[in-house]
Amino acid sequence: MTDSATTKQKRHIALIGFMGAGKSCVADELATRYGRSCVDLDDYIEEQAGKSIAEIFQQNGESHFRQLELDALSDALNRSDSTIIACGGGIVTNPKSLALLHAHAVVIYLAVQPEQALTRIDDWSTRPLLMQAGGTDAIYALAQSRLALYEAAADISINTDKRDISEVADYAVLRLKEAGYADILA
Ligand code: S3P
Repeated sequence: MTDSATTKQKRHIALIGFMGAGKSCVADELATRYGRSCVDLDDYIEEQAGKSIAEIFQQNGESHFRQLELDALSDALNRSDSTIIACGGGIVTNPKSLALLHAHAVVIYLAVQPEQALTRIDDWSTRPLLMQAGGTDAIYALAQSRLALYEAAADISINTDKRDISEVADYAVLRLKEAGYADILA
């Protein structure tokens, strides 16, 4: 398949990265700027399930959550309009989700130092894996264990440290254009 054919097939943009990387805010910013729909998978899952992510983890476990996340991703990618998708931080742990992302979205990895990520999260109780980890060392280890997955999944990687939301969005647009994906935002 040629590069341009690949570009045409990938009509969505998906943001990945660790909790606190800014995926939801940057997705919202890009969607507003370009008049696109924005789907935040965590919000969508909560709406569909009628309960919070924390309740889903507590009542049904992580593997059930990963299935709901895969279903939500599939729904978002099936939309006919070009959509900006904010993924949950652990989506890269599910090979089925990774395959869908790879086939249908340009994947932008928002990299963040875990120390900085934690300062951006106001309420840890909404993130069951932060609560389960119970301390910064375990959280840093979780972030470290995901690094290679994020990097392998990404079409484009962006360092978000010392950049605000608008600057990350600016840089994402620049990098999308440089990588030949300008059509998606046109
Ligand atoms: C998770 C990240 C969360 C949410 C769930 C699991 C993870 O999303 O999907 O708590 O495994 O890293 P955010 O990255 O939007 O916080």
